[in-house]
Amino acid sequence: MKSNIIAEVVIKTSEFEKEVSFFENKVGFKLKEIFPADSPKFALLEGFGINIFLKLEKKNYEYNVTHIRIKLDENSYNIKPKILISPGGNKVEFYLKKKLNKLNSPSIFEINQNNKSWSKGRAGMLYRDLLPLRYGNSVIASHIKLETIGRVNDKVHYHDVNFQVLYCLKGKVKLAYENQKNYIIFQTGDCILQPPQIKHQVIETYEPLEVIEITSPAEHITKFDYNLALPNKKKTSYDKQSKSSFLHYVNSNLEGTSTFPNFTEEKTGIYEASSKYADLIIKKSNSLNQLEFLHNNILLFFYILDGSLKLILDNKEYQLTKNHSFALPPNKRTCFITESKVKFLQLSIPGKAEIRLVN
Ligand SMILES: [Fe+2]
Repeated sequence: MKSNIIAEVVIKTSEFEKEVSFFENKVGFKLKEIFPADSPKFALLEGFGINIFLKLEKKNYEYNVTHIRIKLDENSYNIKPKILISPGGNKVEFYLKKKLNKLNSPSIFEINQNNKSWSKGRAGMLYRDLLPLRYGNSVIASHIKLETIGRVNDKVHYHDVNFQVLYCLKGKVKLAYENQKNYIIFQTGDCILQPPQIKHQVIETYEPLEVIEITSPAEHITKFDYNLALPNKKKTSYDKQSKSSFLHYVNSNLEGTSTFPNFTEEKTGIYEASSKYADLIIKKSNSLNQLEFLHNNILLFFYILDGSLKLILDNKEYQLTKNHSFALPPNKRTCFITESKVKFLQLSIPGKAEIRLVN
């Protein structure tokens, strides 16, 4: 049975009448109770999912200013984002978080060769930021580590995103996803497309885990769901607007031909599952190569999985090895030189990588 207990935010004021009028007429709260009728000292106002308990205080009483945030959505047509200040100095902020629709390209070459800058994230995970520039909140790429083995302190949650992909660098973990009959065992070389809003939970690690996670937009909210236990038997719907579907690509080492000469390509199915939003492939070579190319994508991101690669851009040479990553600006001549083996991830947005080789 649901409880009827509602929490109240206490606001103290010496401007009692004006404050009641402000919350009723300017903000849109409803006056539910007032006491005593002959000389009111207390009022209860209800609105936007909270109750305010307004209390009259003497003029020289020192009270804290209250800040109330009211989140608008695309359906709150009649309320515009604004900030209102009450006669007693309290702040009411109506805000709207817009979804990011337009992606921006890196205007400069962004490279990450620092393997030591880890920060503590959610649920005991360590994060290394691979694209700190973010291109106007367009994209975040993280190297995530979970070093402990066993049960993970995670809750059923989902992300307010347009796109999110995971690649398992190493380790083995049990995950639960909405509308998947069984638990997912995610391990080295696998990749997962998490459609927007899909509920999921990290259950337990069998081996220390390392994952690359690429998400758009860069800043996004993680929300928790306390009503759905995973895996769920009865199908639920998460985001009807998104055309993408859940994908668990199991490492197959199946290699096809590549746009790069002397390279092979392992397709993951991200292109089809994301409904052409992005593509993630693994490129490999074991021979001596030198190739020059330009690309025409908004984002073309690389992560070295194994071996080494010499990259030349703007007459500068970069010697890259395992766990180094970079994003190339579009329409910029880039040279890759491989002397022995190399294996890297290549993520392109939108859709497949539009690469043109230059002789
Ligand atoms: Fe998540």
